[in-house]
Amino acid sequence: MPAWLRRTAGTTGYLCRRLLVDALAAPERASAFREAIARMREAEDREARVPVRRLTDLWPSPGPVTTAVEALTDGNPTAIELFCLGAVVRASGARVIFEIGTFDGATTLQLALNSPPDAVIHTLDLPADAVDRTRSPLLAQERGYALKPASGARLVGTPVRAKIRQLYGDSAAFSAEPFAGQMDLVVIDGSHAREYVRSDSALARAMARPGGWIVWHDYGVWPDVTAVLDELAGELPLVRLEATTLVVAHIPSGEDGDTSRGPSVTT
Ligand SMILES: C[S@@+](CC[C@H](N)C(=O)[O-])C[C@H]1O[C@@H](n2cnc3c(N)ncnc32)[C@H](O)[C@@H]1O
Repeated sequence: MPAWLRRTAGTTGYLCRRLLVDALAAPERASAFREAIARMREAEDREARVPVRRLTDLWPSPGPVTTAVEALTDGNPTAIELFCLGAVVRASGARVIFEIGTFDGATTLQLALNSPPDAVIHTLDLPADAVDRTRSPLLAQERGYALKPASGARLVGTPVRAKIRQLYGDSAAFSAEPFAGQMDLVVIDGSHAREYVRSDSALARAMARPGGWIVWHDYGVWPDVTAVLDELAGELPLVRLEATTLVVAHIPSGEDGDTSRGPSVTT
């Protein structure tokens, strides 16, 4: 029997056992198998829209990265994501940075630790007492992040504190005007509700300079973040950094002689 026929018969037999025989003999196993297949399909679909790239595919040598990882909590990115964020700052040479969603300051700290000494990091957070007065509702599951005791607790007493300007307010009511087209890097990790992911993305695009960068956290984790980024992938060259939920876009410079460091993100 030719090898290809043997392989096809083997695969078909296996699928029949899992999907037909198990459905009668072991319904739980059949259901787990169907769910696993659905998850694989979903991941394939996402990869088709937002391809995965290694950090070093975008920047072959980001250089030394400083990462402060101290007892991470629910709401913080993973240690690998904090490292990658630091690497994006190093590699892109970002000096003027805007962040949406300070929380306890874990990400703000990476931005500050990896930017040049004269860098400025603006970080916007919703004050706890404004959680019921936002332009559109937050998701029930994310209210806890907004209700933390203090924004930027991890920044207190750090040697990079002077680089950081904390801002307070609802991102949907925040005017891009004073910062329009000036940011080397905008990091989005505010509300995960669809309206907010859309409006924060528009705010970021208004603030990023030509040739600058935007990074979103939580692709593939919060369904609305994933859906909005899947939509945006039709307009911007988005890539997900390997082993993370970080999605990166390089804003086209629209001109020859772009002075930003790092290659264009090509999908
Ligand atoms: C998941 S946390 C961010 C995590 C953070 N980047 C870190 O270092 O771990 C989301 C943050 O976004 C803030 N946020 C939620 N909705 C917001 C809004 N409409 N405007 C500004 N900030 C918002 C919350 O208060 C919370 O601090």
